[in-house]
Amino acid sequence: MTDAAALEDTDPGSWKTVCGVDDIKVGEVKSLMFEGKALCLIRSQDNIYCIDDTCSHEDYPLSSGEVDFDSCEIECYMHGSIFSLLTGEPQNLPATEPVDVYRVSVVGEEIRILF
Ligand code: FES
Repeated sequence: MTDAAALEDTDPGSWKTVCGVDDIKVGEVKSLMFEGKALCLIRSQDNIYCIDDTCSHEDYPLSSGEVDFDSCEIECYMHGSIFSLLTGEPQNLPATEPVDVYRVSVVGEEIRILF
């Protein structure tokens, strides 16, 4: 996991708690609404990722797609575009625009996102 204290020291005012660590299991993909934004949380063995939960191609939730934990990518279930969990960049058509990626830290039992 990321060093939460070091991360939050860089911009402590913008980190928001979105849920608890226990709310998402290893290997799980979770959709959640936070402050009017649809987010997709993905928990791997070693990390937690957060990206927009709306595909940049059309208005479908990426959280319904398949995650490849080895390549850190998620595939949109609707038309098959694959997005990097690290950069949000699409790896193939039909999507051509990236989705937003958020920095994640874990503080105690809380998952925090940098907005
Ligand atoms: S809606 Fe995601 S690739 Fe088309």
